[in-house]
Amino acid sequence: MNSKQENRGERRAILRGLLATTVAVAGILPLAPSLAADKVKVGLMLPYTGTYASLGNAITNGFKLAVAENGGKLGGREIAFFTVDDESDPAKGPENTNKLVKRDQVDVLVGTVHSGVAMAMAKIANETKTLLIVPNAGADEVTGPMCSPNIFRTSFSNWQPGYATGKIMADNKHKTAVTVTWKYAAGQQMVDGFKEAFQKGGGKVLKEMTLPFPNVEFQPFLTEIASLKPDAVFVFFAGGGAVKFVKDYAAAGLKGKISLYGTGFLTDGTLDAQGADAQGLVTALHYADGLNTPKDNAFRAAYKKAYNAEPDVYAVQGYDAAQLLRAGLEAVKGDIGKKDQMYQAMAAAKIDSPRGAFTLSKAHNPIQDFYTRRVVGKENKSIGIAIKGLADPARGCKR
Ligand code: BEZ
Repeated sequence: MNSKQENRGERRAILRGLLATTVAVAGILPLAPSLAADKVKVGLMLPYTGTYASLGNAITNGFKLAVAENGGKLGGREIAFFTVDDESDPAKGPENTNKLVKRDQVDVLVGTVHSGVAMAMAKIANETKTLLIVPNAGADEVTGPMCSPNIFRTSFSNWQPGYATGKIMADNKHKTAVTVTWKYAAGQQMVDGFKEAFQKGGGKVLKEMTLPFPNVEFQPFLTEIASLKPDAVFVFFAGGGAVKFVKDYAAAGLKGKISLYGTGFLTDGTLDAQGADAQGLVTALHYADGLNTPKDNAFRAAYKKAYNAEPDVYAVQGYDAAQLLRAGLEAVKGDIGKKDQMYQAMAAAKIDSPRGAFTLSKAHNPIQDFYTRRVVGKENKSIGIAIKGLADPARGCKR
């Protein structure tokens, strides 16, 4: 090779280097793994508008509190947040999930509240093998037929609180009941769980009533309940819908006449708005006020200090989603590429939750205690444990 050819070769190598740097800086090519590995990208897909907006905000606060308590890191890695408002709209679920998975290329998806939206997220997480942590939505399918090594839940399956509430109602010797809920997976599956326990305890369901999500025109149902005269009523409503149902039930003159029960979402995070109309209501949930454990007291104090608000079940579930991610990242010393090892550690983790410590079932759903709660003032006071260590049956999970 002569010196001219050598110079041309060197120039081409320099140009290639310059081009590669320019392209990488412009973000067209991925950066070297060591550079890209700086922050773990967490995509929060939650409702920040609509009926479930307060739930999405509480989950976000809880998650961020756990990260802040770890100096802004989990497993030694800094966290970068990407956020999408899913509006609790299942029709927009795939598009919104892809904003995080394809556009933002997040490492972890965290979401969501609404079961219908969660099913869209779980499908994409399954297909793309993206880690998904569900901090609320109880869709039974997610930890049932759709169960997957990369999908975890820190909240509940819809069956669980429904079943626990049905048991309380049967234990309280109610013989007949009417159910009212929104017509979508969460309502239908909680009613199914309720019926399983209530009927096992000798109860009979007189009528199942539904209305489309997120409608709150309850009057026709209340009129019918008054004429059917069941011993008790079982409902699932949450967020803004729960506030309205409890107020309408009292305004219709039913409070104190026909016992109203619900999964604990009926009165969690809603008591300021429900006021006197919620007093005395009994619900079942995996969290309660006044647990008075060192972990819960510390969590509640830290949450109050950070947000000047009382935490609710949604805040706890968000906090625990970050705790679960931390367990996984710590096991791989922050190397999120070691997926198998990370998922194994998450599946085996014992989460020191404000609700009480819990582990995950083989389908990655919490095995946890369900509290019986009674509304006293601004609190869902624990008045005992309805069911200890309740595990979802994970029907249809083939793992
Ligand atoms: C759900 O859609 O799964 C859900 C929403 C709010 C509270 C509880 C469950």
